[in-house]
Amino acid sequence: MRKTIVAGNWKMNGTRESIKTLLDAITDRAMKIDGLVTLVCPPAVYLSQVVDQIADAPVAVGAQNVSEQSKGAYTGEWSLEMLQDLGCKYVILGHSERRSLFGESDELVAEKVAATLEAGLVPVLCVGETLGQREAGDALVVVNSQISATLQRIGIEGFASVVVAYEPVWAIGTGLTATPGDAQEVHAAIRAQLAEKDAIIADNLSILYGGSMNAANAAELLAQQDIDGGLIGGASLKADEFLTICAAAA
Ligand code: G3P
Repeated sequence: MRKTIVAGNWKMNGTRESIKTLLDAITDRAMKIDGLVTLVCPPAVYLSQVVDQIADAPVAVGAQNVSEQSKGAYTGEWSLEMLQDLGCKYVILGHSERRSLFGESDELVAEKVAATLEAGLVPVLCVGETLGQREAGDALVVVNSQISATLQRIGIEGFASVVVAYEPVWAIGTGLTATPGDAQEVHAAIRAQLAEKDAIIADNLSILYGGSMNAANAAELLAQQDIDGGLIGGASLKADEFLTICAAAA
């Protein structure tokens, strides 16, 4: 069953107080609608606070990254066991900022996805091309290659429990949003690539769009056949805007 997911990637933003205020506003008005998942992904240091504050609200919690290692001498990292211990359900993996700023390769991302599945959490696998790659006409080639690296590692069966997020790098944090048509083209290509292996798994896959999605453009993007939600950055830090996107997705 293809779920609609609206996820807020808060990135490296917030304080205990500001997160409490933001989350109170979200949980007060979050809608419990079958088939809609409202997800917040705070900085790791605030995961415990967020899990406790959400309590019974219809809001899930995700991490923005995780180590592929189970435990040990990995200073500054945290493990899947720790995320499980906290009650975290989702993990954003392979975000373009992890890839570009912290050198995460397709292969490392694939390992993290495999470890996350093994731990029973839901990977949100991020893929997307740079402006140069799009201008060179290579957007689909790049995205299919990023998907392939994880497909080779987990097999098509693994994608039954994965969420994919298409985030054109040039649209992240820039206010430049992909047109609904361009986004739909890439989402359809991702689904087609996986359908070659298993049409049912591909059809049930949730593919989110990320990259300057906001209250003004969400409805048109979410109306696209293969866009099953959003991975929201800046707009998720404003409760009204985030909830407007959730309402548009419902
Ligand atoms: O992971 C979501 C993020 O990369 C999108 O950021 O600010 O363009 O919505 P933003």
